[in-house]
Amino acid sequence: MEWNIGVWVVVGVVVVWWVLWKENKKKCGIPKGSSGWPLLGETLEFIASGYTSTPVSFMDKRKSLYGKVFRTSILGTPVIVSTDPDVNKAVLQNQGNIFIPAYPKSIQELMGKHSILQMNGNLHRKVHALIGGFLRSPQLKARITKEIENSVKHCFSNWKITTAGHSHLIYVQDEVKKITFPILVKVLMSVGPGEDLDFLKKEFEEFIKGLICLPIKLPGTTLHKSLKAKEKMLKMVQKIITERKMLMEKADEKGAVIDAVDVLLRDRSDSDAKQSLPLDFISGNIIEMMIPGEETMPTAMTLAVKFLSDCPVALNKLVEENMELMIKKQKTDSFDDYSWTDYMSSLPFTQHVISETLRMANIINAIWRKSVQDVKIKGYLIPKGWCVMTSLTSVHMDEKNYENSYQFDPWRWEKIPVVNNNCFTPFGGGQRLCPGLELSRLELSIFLHHLVTSYRWVAEKDEIVYFPTVKMKRKMPISVTPISNP
Ligand code: HEM
Repeated sequence: MEWNIGVWVVVGVVVVWWVLWKENKKKCGIPKGSSGWPLLGETLEFIASGYTSTPVSFMDKRKSLYGKVFRTSILGTPVIVSTDPDVNKAVLQNQGNIFIPAYPKSIQELMGKHSILQMNGNLHRKVHALIGGFLRSPQLKARITKEIENSVKHCFSNWKITTAGHSHLIYVQDEVKKITFPILVKVLMSVGPGEDLDFLKKEFEEFIKGLICLPIKLPGTTLHKSLKAKEKMLKMVQKIITERKMLMEKADEKGAVIDAVDVLLRDRSDSDAKQSLPLDFISGNIIEMMIPGEETMPTAMTLAVKFLSDCPVALNKLVEENMELMIKKQKTDSFDDYSWTDYMSSLPFTQHVISETLRMANIINAIWRKSVQDVKIKGYLIPKGWCVMTSLTSVHMDEKNYENSYQFDPWRWEKIPVVNNNCFTPFGGGQRLCPGLELSRLELSIFLHHLVTSYRWVAEKDEIVYFPTVKMKRKMPISVTPISNP
């Protein structure tokens, strides 16, 4: 009997030792770092750095201690943070579909699992390709250029100008939303100015309040109100889609694709079935695609104004280039008849200003993924179930990648490529590279062209806040005076 117990003790010890040894071996290769406090992890330090003027300080400190890729723990979740452009690229490329998007609970709840932002695999690839193909198409750009110009001019027409003795403040951050929201809605579902647009604007504002909130769905909570707003929008979008579908079925000729609703309704790629994507899938996605487009564009425009206000040399060069184009247009009798290529190809310095704005603004500061299996990248082990945070800001603000990285220097882009550059990823990369990339650049170009050829401005003191999202503390107040054009 004693002999029997002895054997079982030895077997037990060996099994425990073997399990521990295996676990240890498995952990071998997990990047160095700290898990911080129990449950809290390093959450407080992470958030606190977001409230400073250098939000990368959290990353920088750990980078110097543990290297470019390190582990931490945020809100009880183990996270591997990558500030390494190669690791970021591998994660975003996602060969073998090892990584899935990782959003906070409230966002997951609001988006639904069939949202382009959350779905994976073949269906994601298909929807991404359909939307990307449409948003990049020259046909859309040709058509939307006039709409963007009109939206910019309409917004400017309501600006009160500052005269001697009468100063008026324009809050850029609020104003540019009047430009970008109608464009987004036009591109997605062709709703023009009027009651429907106002309704969508109101409900969408309520809807996005829920993106960063406690994941509690009880009546009266932010999340509950946000879901209700989404329901109201869904009803309206479903009506638009049903009407469009009926029109399509009646008409013999299909006509040109005018918006994202058309793109998704006309998809026939899966089979010879009449329509492969269900109506509720399309309506959900139309609303969910408003999320990445709505906040980012106004922030980019506002921060362009901020950086230019702080850098008069760059502003002067921008004015010079845009005035030249305007005068050239006037001479050729095509004044007021710009094509999208005028904005995208004839204004190289303007494009540099946009690239530098996107680099420094870091509107999307990081992209979060979760690994569905153990994977090794560049020798670093990312265990199954762990989150990976690819820090875009760290790469954009690293002195090794950009000399004087905190200085707004559009001229640096004369020597640096903006495509296929792992160190410049404001629009992400790989499988989920932002499909609105070119549209965003076009919108920014048109906005800057008309701003600097119409007005001179004086900016009041303001500062950038980086948490929870990038914003101007005082909404970027400026006073404008019109330029008497030659
Ligand atoms: C300056 C403006 C913008 C910035 C900085 C930006 C940035 C990004 C980034 C970083 C991603 C990748 C997210 C990820 O990998 O999980 C993304 C995805 C996306 N963006 Fe943009 N975006 C901008 C404007 C727009 C606009 C105007 C639209 C719509 C018309 C748009 C639509 C989308 C969509 C639908 C996705 C999801 C793609 C997918 O998961 O397949 N974005 N954006």
